[in-house]
Amino acid sequence: MCGIIGYVGARPCKELVLSGLEHLEYRGYDSAGLVLVEPGHLHRARALGPVKHLREAAAGISSTATLGMGHTRWATHGGVEERNTHPFVSADGRFAVLMNGIFENYVELRAEVAERGHVLTSDTDTEALVHLLAEAYEGDLADTVRRIYPRLEGHFAFLVVCTDEPDRIVGARLAWPPLVVGRGAGETFLASFTPAFLSETRAIQLVAEGEIVIATADDVEFRRVADWSLQEHPIEQADESLEVAAKGGYESFMLKEIHEQPTAIDDTIAERFHNGRLQLDGIGLTDEELRSINRVLVVGCGTALHSGLVGRYLIEEWAQIATEADVASEWRYRNGVFDPKTLVLAISQSGETADTLAAMQIARQRGARVIAITNIMGSAVARAADGALYTRAGLEIGVAATKTFTAQVTLMTLLALHLGAVRGTIAPAEVARIGDELRLLPGLVQQILDDTSLDAQLDVIADRFAHDRFFLFLGRHLGLPICQEGALKLKEISYIPTDAYAAGEMKHGPIALLGEDTPVVAVATDSHVFEKIASNLEEVRARGAHVIAVATEGNTVIHHHAEHVLFIPRTRPELQPVLAVVPLQILAYKIAVRLGLDVDRPRNLAKTVTVE
Ligand code: M6R
Repeated sequence: MCGIIGYVGARPCKELVLSGLEHLEYRGYDSAGLVLVEPGHLHRARALGPVKHLREAAAGISSTATLGMGHTRWATHGGVEERNTHPFVSADGRFAVLMNGIFENYVELRAEVAERGHVLTSDTDTEALVHLLAEAYEGDLADTVRRIYPRLEGHFAFLVVCTDEPDRIVGARLAWPPLVVGRGAGETFLASFTPAFLSETRAIQLVAEGEIVIATADDVEFRRVADWSLQEHPIEQADESLEVAAKGGYESFMLKEIHEQPTAIDDTIAERFHNGRLQLDGIGLTDEELRSINRVLVVGCGTALHSGLVGRYLIEEWAQIATEADVASEWRYRNGVFDPKTLVLAISQSGETADTLAAMQIARQRGARVIAITNIMGSAVARAADGALYTRAGLEIGVAATKTFTAQVTLMTLLALHLGAVRGTIAPAEVARIGDELRLLPGLVQQILDDTSLDAQLDVIADRFAHDRFFLFLGRHLGLPICQEGALKLKEISYIPTDAYAAGEMKHGPIALLGEDTPVVAVATDSHVFEKIASNLEEVRARGAHVIAVATEGNTVIHHHAEHVLFIPRTRPELQPVLAVVPLQILAYKIAVRLGLDVDRPRNLAKTVTVE
């Protein structure tokens, strides 16, 4: 969380920094700030809220500085106030710092600098760094950072500048927060993620963990803090597309990304079938090793976990391996027992989620094999695993995950099939048949998106229930994780409390919540549990609550159990999750819009969660 950008080159950089921040805003939008550095002095602007407010605040700065840096904040230490907004500047106005991450020993650091007479102007962990720098500086900024670095505990990527050295930015990384360098002609960028500078250059180098980077317009040095040795990093070409960072005519990124799902699913499948046979390049384990696996653990957070929960059913079904799925932040503190026959699947679209990364590291230390499932090439989870499988959803900007979820479910489906095929628990002909049906999914999702009567019906439902105080989601089997995902979508963008429950569990507690003003959303697609969920819906209706059901087209009995039925196309039950979630995404979207909320930037959230 938090986005950082720095520029050093020949061009006046205020606009480059602001536009870079706009591309990083998905990482946090509590407040934003920038500094522009000139020989002997610097300009700073800070503002609460999105980057457009910073743009206004910086309008009066007419500096032609060619070195600058900016920050967009997701608050951790210190409230959402301007005084807690990065960058922080030393009392003498010579040093500025900004950071993505956390100094875990900040209490000690703040007390230490305060004791030596520094006046702390914020409640943040980061501010201590600027005072430490100002104290320790002896004419070489990089060397000063090298000497301070061992004092800093936690996980971070930070940038610092000094008006005495207006030709350079010094950055440092510890643990997982990313830092990428963009190399242009006579100019250099530093950022949390490439889209911050993609319009200017695609040539990138990654700063490694435990390194300090010294960036000038024409040169970049990477040094390992431990021994100050120079490190070589190849210049690579960024593969993200800049187009995705624009709304392309849609009123929000979320809506655009919902509509990109057919392509995301198609691209995720396409490269993996060769002549009807499934091939998962990058999986990192040999077929022999996959055959020896006797247990699978899926870890992830939020939406990523929900896709893992779908995968759990499919792996058990097709590969017949005992599979569990758990929240990464909980699992990492369990005393999990592993051996090399345990396979851990770590799912993270951003590839940066702190808890998922920690869970992976623990699993590997205890001997398990780990495969990462991520949307970002070369991300931290991909680097920390034995193998990496990529969803091909393209960059997702909306904080509420949509296309990455359906791409993850698609990839988990492919992986479950692959495990089954390799282990001989599913016949090759059946794999080919399922493959044929999988390839129809993009078209079927498109059909849902093009269905004007479904859209009109969702409008009616949104109008009717947008002001209700609570939604209950009920599902069974593969419908349950889809309910969990639907409930998460609705709560995170509309702020309406929701709960998702196994329909069979309803009578053990949540039924007490039902009344004549309760909308109940059910995933009741055709499957071996359809009759069971139909009975549960009768129990709901008997309490006067209103049932909205997602059902398979052609189902003629569902109207007896629901007031509103959202029909989706038929496919085999194992593939229904990819289709069933789409109306729930659209419903959440329509309700949030009716409530006048910013669907792309829900309050308090950030797209990447790099803190525990
Ligand atoms: O990047 P990740 O997939 O690891 O993110 C995990 C969650 O933070 C994420 O899925 C979150 O729940 C979604 N933004 C919800 O829409």
